[in-house]
Amino acid sequence: MQENTARVIELEEEPEPRDPFSDPAYLRNWLIENDMIAAGIPKRFRPGFAAYEERTPECAFLRRKALAWANEFDPRDPTKGFALTGVTGAGKTHLAAAIARRLIERRCSVMWVNTAALFMRIRSTYGHDSDESEEDLIDELVAPDLLVLDDLGVERPTAWVLERLYVILNRRHEECKVIMFTSNYDGRELTERLRTPEAGDLADRLISRLVGMVESIGDFPKKDWRKEAWRQRQ
Ligand SMILES: Nc1ncnc2c1ncn2[C@@H]1O[C@H](COP(=O)(O)OP(=O)(O)OP(=O)(O)O)[C@@H](O)[C@H]1O
Ligand SMILES: [Mg+2]
Repeated sequence: MQENTARVIELEEEPEPRDPFSDPAYLRNWLIENDMIAAGIPKRFRPGFAAYEERTPECAFLRRKALAWANEFDPRDPTKGFALTGVTGAGKTHLAAAIARRLIERRCSVMWVNTAALFMRIRSTYGHDSDESEEDLIDELVAPDLLVLDDLGVERPTAWVLERLYVILNRRHEECKVIMFTSNYDGRELTERLRTPEAGDLADRLISRLVGMVESIGDFPKKDWRKEAWRQRQ
């Protein structure tokens, strides 16, 4: 009997599920979170600048530069986007996602793709049962104010891959739309990687567009923060 009473009291004390429409600040966060999900930004990287710490002077510089760019970004008068390159675990994806979040907070449209996953998605459009065509997908990639290509260079640079990249970048270039990419390869390494005999002059046409569309954001610390966090947990 007593047990039952205790359970009733417990249930009565449970907080009401939060109604996003009753609190403007909560509603705003809720809408931003939904837009981040729709943009394809992975959960781990959704907190944005709030979680990007100034752990080294490089981090402080990169944070300031990225935040200033994101605050000034104007889709009607676009500037160059950023190439975020550095060693694995340096924080490239985290910083790119922070920029993406800031743009979403400012009501700009963003699409985020992991580059290797994008090519898998393009391939899947060739299946008979696919309800998406390659043209539709490319239109989707051209539409947003900012397209982020995470981990560019991971995919093997076959002629097929370079042709798709060329079409996407060229369409965005023609529409004066901004791109940003993260990569473990710096500009010189990426150029070397793309210039394969199979690629022919496509590599140079692609590199020329990349150079026109992005500039380096600056040097990331040569540190793998993932390993560092793992070491600290030991
Ligand atoms: N300045 C920072 N403040 C807080 N967390 C950070 C910072 N830099 C990196 N991290 C964290 O370190 C981990 C690795 O960062 P991230 O995934 O962005 O690295 P990356 O450079 O994209 O690596 P990869 O080349 O392997 O994709 C993540 O958990 C990220 O949140
Ligand atoms: Mg990354």
